Amino acid sequence: MKILVTDPIAEPGLDRLREAGHTVETAYDVEGDALHAAVADANALVVRSGTDVTEELFAAAEELTIVGRAGIGVDNIDIDAATEAGVIVANAPEGNVRAAAEHTVAMTFAAARSIPQAHTRLKAGEWAKSDYLGTELNGATLGIVGFGRVGQEVAKKLDGLGMNLVAYDPYISEERAANLGAELVELDECLASADVLTIHTPLTPETENLIGEDELDRLGRGYLVNCARGGVVDEAALAAAVADGSVAGAAIDVFAEEPVSQDNPLLDVENAIVTPHLAASTHAAQENVATSIADQVLAAFASKPVMNA
Ligand code: MLT
Repeated sequence: MKILVTDPIAEPGLDRLREAGHTVETAYDVEGDALHAAVADANALVVRSGTDVTEELFAAAEELTIVGRAGIGVDNIDIDAATEAGVIVANAPEGNVRAAAEHTVAMTFAAARSIPQAHTRLKAGEWAKSDYLGTELNGATLGIVGFGRVGQEVAKKLDGLGMNLVAYDPYISEERAANLGAELVELDECLASADVLTIHTPLTPETENLIGEDELDRLGRGYLVNCARGGVVDEAALAAAVADGSVAGAAIDVFAEEPVSQDNPLLDVENAIVTPHLAASTHAAQENVATSIADQVLAAFASKPVMNA
């Protein structure tokens, strides 16, 4: 079988596919007709977030059995078109949960203690000690929007640092939240009580722009940390709220458009700190998702059950 890989994944995942006797072809940074030509005879396609798997791509991929997403989010894959084409869409929902949660915690500290800002000024020769008075997380309230795998892992870590936990998630029971030390509340209450708000929802029609101007007003002087998906937060509204100080700060790893354009308003705001979608980028996480998605592809080829996204 031919497996086309269009975003870089860790070598152990590729080895697993080759060792099973399949041909692995890589085609990174390829778009349009060249991508359609490469996928035409592929039996499986493996992607991360860099490839838009569109209706046109499914139409060009006549031999495709499965699209594997080496990661959690499948918002770059047209699921309706996959269903129409009879192609399985699988993801690797567990392998990068710890990495995503750790990056969320790192970004929370970085925002609450202005670490990137102070670092930049010190490197430029300025001893700006008196300009930075941070926020202590112990005793502060963490509002978690989306209490799935990553949200729950963040809750465990920040609970251990003495934060009070509230969570908003319409798909989870009060009991499950309480078992993890969080009070399940409506979005309004989550925003109003949070000193730090972290986002962990997928990007769906229901969550697109879930956090806009009104929600940021409710958050008030809290911090917003988003290592989930860019389109969940209105970037222009967030940039304006952080710039005028009505929101204390933001730590953003994900953007509505990636790679982010230099016009993005968040890039100009001192207290909005940013990273280029790095949350899942650890050696362990990348090896986990690559081998897990390889297993999914092999299962689909053997007509065994796969973890459907
Ligand atoms: C995911 O959906 O798993 C993450 O966004 C990870 C990534 O591919 O960078």
